[in-house]
Amino acid sequence: MTKFNNIINLETVDSTNNYLKDHLTEFESGTVLFSTEQTNGRGRFDRSWFGEKYKSIFSSFLIKNISEPEDALRYSFLFSLGIKDLLSQYISAEDIVLKWPNDILIGDKKITGVLSEFAQNSVIVGIGINVLEFIPEGKIEMPWTTIEKETGLKLDVEKFKFELIDHINNAFIKYNAEDPKNITRLWAEEAEILGKFVTVSHQNKKISGTVLSIDDLGILKIAYENNIINISTGDLEYND
Ligand code: BTN
Repeated sequence: MTKFNNIINLETVDSTNNYLKDHLTEFESGTVLFSTEQTNGRGRFDRSWFGEKYKSIFSSFLIKNISEPEDALRYSFLFSLGIKDLLSQYISAEDIVLKWPNDILIGDKKITGVLSEFAQNSVIVGIGINVLEFIPEGKIEMPWTTIEKETGLKLDVEKFKFELIDHINNAFIKYNAEDPKNITRLWAEEAEILGKFVTVSHQNKKISGTVLSIDDLGILKIAYENNIINISTGDLEYND
């Protein structure tokens, strides 16, 4: 079972995911790389990810020798569950929304982004968390928030790093990461996504329908007009 216990702290990088990917052979499985500052953070669909030195978490978690490439996807859902557990120490669990595939929102405002990438039989799961209030350098496309804004708490970002690692390690035990095939189903229960009416947008296409199921890769089946459509990527919105 992977346990994250090798912690690396850097001062500045372009992207913690890039750094781990470029230095993969130097790091063992179970490494967590933090950087105080990130100058070119990336999100899904090549979007930028912003945060600020001493106010945001920029981290990447490394799992090597995964059994099959598909596990990379499955683990990203597990990390979201761990982060939800972490945030629920400070924010009421009912207000924390797991948005497919890996976003975490407070109401409709994004507080955490997860970017999971597969390279050389390893998975790198990048996590950005908005902890303290900050002024982004560029425009953030969707509504967003911070733990400070939601709670008034000025958390100690250094301590928070260790809480993050603990909650991820606990999630590996709690959600039985030995068998990653079950993770997406457990995520769907926690996200309460089944039966929800959603809209998914991808490359100028939008479909709205009811979520019927999720498979072990996180692919959603959505009832759309008189068909059932498989959705493997895109931006989802809850309509009800
Ligand atoms: C998303 O919401 O699209 C995912 C955002 C992921 C951001 C984190 S910050 C640390 C790690 N390094 C990156 O360049 N991206 C991830």
